[in-house]
Amino acid sequence: MNTHQPTLVLNGTGKIGRRVVERLTLRGLPVRIGSRSSEPRFDWEDRSTWVPVLEGVGSAYISHHFDAIPGAAETLGSFAELAVKSGVPRLVLMSGRGEQEVERAERAVRHSGAELTVLHSTWFAQNFSESYWQEMVQAGEVALPAADTPEPFVDADNIADVAVAALIDDRHIGQIYELTGPRLLTFTEAVAEISRAVGREIRYLPISIEDFAATAAEQGVPNEVIEMLSYIFGEVLDGRNAHLANGVQRALGREPRDFRDYARDAAATGIWNPRATRVA
Ligand SMILES: NC(=O)c1ccc[n+]([C@@H]2O[C@H](COP(=O)([O-])OP(=O)(O)OC[C@H]3O[C@@H](n4cnc5c(N)ncnc54)[C@H](OP(=O)(O)O)[C@@H]3O)[C@@H](O)[C@H]2O)c1
Repeated sequence: MNTHQPTLVLNGTGKIGRRVVERLTLRGLPVRIGSRSSEPRFDWEDRSTWVPVLEGVGSAYISHHFDAIPGAAETLGSFAELAVKSGVPRLVLMSGRGEQEVERAERAVRHSGAELTVLHSTWFAQNFSESYWQEMVQAGEVALPAADTPEPFVDADNIADVAVAALIDDRHIGQIYELTGPRLLTFTEAVAEISRAVGREIRYLPISIEDFAATAAEQGVPNEVIEMLSYIFGEVLDGRNAHLANGVQRALGREPRDFRDYARDAAATGIWNPRATRVA
């Protein structure tokens, strides 16, 4: 890897991207964040922002903000093609698992001729602490339309470690890593782990997609996010991903982090402490 040219990290302010940025920075490697709030600004929906972020970079971590929406595959493919044409052949693509649009995206990005590493990830454990599920945990009830399908929740730190390994070591070129945690957990079991870690009752309540969408809208969750999550809960969470994979072990040579360890460490930060009620 060229250590003088920056690595472009798309979604560089998100759950995985910011961890990738932290890790590269700790290694003393230059980084350029690509997001709507970065400078130069990057927006998937505004192609005029694509060329400036690619200027002078040596490699790129690419991830669409909603990789399962129709059209994301073409968008990712076009970006990869531009990257390769701009002299950035080394790409690490991070996306979901078991979704048609994600498979199309992988093919489109591969078509660019990039030196590619692909990461397919299952649900992040950090959805419970770094997205709006966190507020449900704080309130003591996690109501989601997930029935009780088992999922091998994976730790965001593991995903970022794999992404960084792939960015800095050419031995990962051509690899496809399917990233999961070390065990399958139903949502009831995952929330029970969190409950144990915080030392108070937090329960999982399976609800319908319609109730989920209505409550999320009341809480101000943007429409596009609700639609996306409704699709994922309604279609992708049907048990197709209820199996473990060994991507973390293959890429890093160690076991993935268990959900229990994630829950213990997240609880220790106080992120799930009940919100103080305001005295008038
Ligand atoms: N969460 C999961 O469990 C999970 C599992 C597997 C795969 N995935 C996939 O992984 C990807 C990232 O998910 P995440 O949960 O890590 O996201 P996240 O934490 O919500 O972060 C989203 C990132 O996208 C950026 N962004 C939003 N809209 C953008 C736009 N129009 N143009 C450019 N950047 C934009 C945001 O920065 P700004 O707001 O600054 O633009 C932010 O950096 C998604 O494709 C998701 O489907 C997620």
